[in-house]
Amino acid sequence: MRKIIIAGNWKLNKTIAEAVELVSEIKSQADGVTNVDIVVCPVFTALSEVNKIVAGSNVGLGAQDLYWEDSGAFTGEVSVPLLKDAGCQYVIIGHSERRQYFGETNETVNSKVKAALAGGLIPIVCVGENLEQREADKAFDVVKDHVENSLKGFSADEMKKIIVAYEPVWAIGTGKTASPAQAQEIHNFIRSLLKEMHNDEVAESMRIQYGGSVKPENAKELMGQKDIDGALVGGAALKAESFLGIIKNC
Ligand code: PGA
Repeated sequence: MRKIIIAGNWKLNKTIAEAVELVSEIKSQADGVTNVDIVVCPVFTALSEVNKIVAGSNVGLGAQDLYWEDSGAFTGEVSVPLLKDAGCQYVIIGHSERRQYFGETNETVNSKVKAALAGGLIPIVCVGENLEQREADKAFDVVKDHVENSLKGFSADEMKKIIVAYEPVWAIGTGKTASPAQAQEIHNFIRSLLKEMHNDEVAESMRIQYGGSVKPENAKELMGQKDIDGALVGGAALKAESFLGIIKNC
């Protein structure tokens, strides 16, 4: 049985004080929830203060990106040891906004996943097609390219630690959600790719989150799909009420 994992991607939002306020509310409302893994991913500058609130609780902490070198002359970057020092257990890698605005490619994503695994962080690796690609019937090709190349070269044991997040770019922040059937179709396809790359056991044990306009109202049906094992939530993760609503509805 794969445990549902709901992660909040706060993107470029919240001061330290606002982040502390939000996570304090999430933590108190999520007290006692054990059937869902809960993760919050604030901006780098808020990580260590948020960690002071969630340390030892059922709320996990993640970063939104990393660089693959541990230290050195890499101005502006943040590494795995520094994220661990700030209290992180998870890290989002290859989010579509990073692929779109910051030149992230399957190759950079692959290097980042490698570094995260080597340093003991759980990578949440984002894949998914944009609107143009979906309309041109390329969704499966794009997802295959992202999955095969971003996750190239890992052992079965390493793969089992990775979480994949399928996020159709056309559904991110747009209010348009993939229908549960559309999402399930791609999730099932991703699982078949993982099986081809490794084996049944790896494919069946890996968790695949859905992301793109997930809200309390659509969470239950999405999470009810056979191959959907959680959600990566943007907008609705910025308020305790909607984030908790999603958790409670699955
Ligand atoms: P959204 O963002 O929930 O606001 O659509 C999801 C994401 O980008 O991770």
